[in-house]
Amino acid sequence: MAAWLPSSRVHPMVPAAAALLLTAMAAAPAAVALLHDDVEPMWGADHISFHTGPDGVETLALRLDKDHGSGFRSRRAYRFARYDIDLKLVANDSAGTVTTVYLTPDLVPPEDHDEIDLEFLGNVSGEPYTLHTNIFVNGVGNREQQFRLWFDPSEDFHTYSVDWNPKRITMFIDGTPIRVYKNESSSGVPFPTLRHLRLDGSLWNADDWATQGGRVKTNWTQAPFHAYYRNFRVTPCAPASSPGVASCGDDERPPASAGFGKQGLDAAALRRVRAEHLLYDYCEDQNRFKDEGLPKECTAN
Ligand SMILES: *[C@@H]1O[C@H](CO)[C@@H](O)[C@H](O)[C@H]1NC(C)=O
Ligand SMILES: *[C@@H]1O[C@H](CO)[C@@H](O)[C@H](O)[C@H]1NC(C)=O
Ligand SMILES: *[C@@H]1O[C@H](CO)[C@@H](O)[C@H](O)[C@H]1NC(C)=O
Ligand SMILES: *[C@@H]1O[C@H](CO)[C@@H](O)[C@H](O)[C@H]1NC(C)=O
Repeated sequence: MAAWLPSSRVHPMVPAAAALLLTAMAAAPAAVALLHDDVEPMWGADHISFHTGPDGVETLALRLDKDHGSGFRSRRAYRFARYDIDLKLVANDSAGTVTTVYLTPDLVPPEDHDEIDLEFLGNVSGEPYTLHTNIFVNGVGNREQQFRLWFDPSEDFHTYSVDWNPKRITMFIDGTPIRVYKNESSSGVPFPTLRHLRLDGSLWNADDWATQGGRVKTNWTQAPFHAYYRNFRVTPCAPASSPGVASCGDDERPPASAGFGKQGLDAAALRRVRAEHLLYDYCEDQNRFKDEGLPKECTAN
């Protein structure tokens, strides 16, 4: 049992699930977000715990120590959906740690692997995190874009989202779009195929590359490290009209989806974030692609 949480509120996930469900329902029937109904440990299960706050919202804590980190995944996979999750990152000296949220299919051959990544690269106390994003299609990534966040992501929860539909992939922070990858497959641009994707989250040690290019290592005297997740929401959409599921066949989004208006994506907000907070964009890296030329999606319209 983890010592860092009020002990009465700590629930080892599997055995306590039923008891917790009853307790939570009795306490606050409507407001409870039972995260453990929607996600399950994937690795390092003994480093994963759930606890319910005074507001009745359940938080999942991932732990990283010298032995190993931990990771979870959504119980269900979706073909086209908007995924939202609130995340509070490792506080203080997080150098060497990486906290992730990503969409991935169940095991497929490596050459078919698609993935949509948000990876938060830790830093020494007082220095900023970097948000590292990538998109893999058919086993090939190399589509990195990095951002400097405009807030301290370890101070409070913020909402990170990926909307994946037949038209485009959009990443959001607190409802503001930060990155769009369009389906331009008619121009030969690779786009993730028709697989169901799960949302995964993890906390692990990557001090060979994460912080200041790998120069700063994880300070294990600061361990254990914790990252917190809560309020996982999925809004599925269907390419063609099907009962009970919002259509994602056009640019109109479900009304609850922030960042989209009647005209579709809030392009002005996207431009502003990118002008002010983009650190690296592979599409601008002429030097890296000088031999083979920029990838198709960088030059397609
Ligand atoms: C981070 O540092 C502050 C100030 O020293 C301290 O109060 C807090 O407990 C630390 N948080 C963690 C997770 O170590
Ligand atoms: C991408 O768009 C093309 C039409 O341009 C469509 O045929 C294809 O199904 C779309 N991809 C996905 C994954 O929906
Ligand atoms: C860490 O802080 C340094 C110095 O401010 C900065 O150059 C670097 O981009 C930050 N982020 C990471 C992940 O190293
Ligand atoms: C690691 O953390 C300890 C405890 O806070 C500190 O005394 C030490 O200077 C840190 N080491 C490095 C390399 O920053």
